[in-house]
Amino acid sequence: MVIIEDASPYFIKFNYSGYDNVVSECLKFKSEFNKERFTHYRLPVMTATKILPWVPEHKKLDFNLSRFSLFISPPGIYYPAHRDGLSYKVGLNFAIQIENETCETHWYDNTEFDNYEIETRGGVTRDIINFKRENHIPKKTMIFKMGEAVIFNTDIYHDFDNTTSDKTRVILTLRSNYAPLWKFEDYKRILFPAIV
Ligand SMILES: [Fe+2]
Repeated sequence: MVIIEDASPYFIKFNYSGYDNVVSECLKFKSEFNKERFTHYRLPVMTATKILPWVPEHKKLDFNLSRFSLFISPPGIYYPAHRDGLSYKVGLNFAIQIENETCETHWYDNTEFDNYEIETRGGVTRDIINFKRENHIPKKTMIFKMGEAVIFNTDIYHDFDNTTSDKTRVILTLRSNYAPLWKFEDYKRILFPAIV
């Protein structure tokens, strides 16, 4: 386990042995990557079960095998500020197909959104209605690259911008079974006990 960048509490990027196997398994689904819209593609449980042993600290982090999801972002996609799910606080992500360094993820200050209305789209997200990015300055920016896994704080408002890219970007994103109870700090403590 090698930390590439510790930007707590927003993200921690790292690499570890096993990452390459995760990528190869996901690339078997390459025929699914050609989408016109942002797509949440759930891998079959059988594939998740195969990938699981290559995920660091998978026994402690207790991942949901039904929620081994590929997030597929075609060129031109901008996803406005949101927090994931109704109560997810943290995720573990893996770069699967990223062909350039143009896609930016930004985290904002949660307190700036206290008075905004939230759209949950049936309980799958917490999107800010009428988010105007020009009115907010990101607290942290991340450019995710191949060779990287990341502890991702999904409980701080974030957006991502693939609008200047001409490539489809694919990441794998995992959630724990008891997602509402797990926080960024819990993943950090379990994955990197030496730095907490
Ligand atoms: Fe998100």
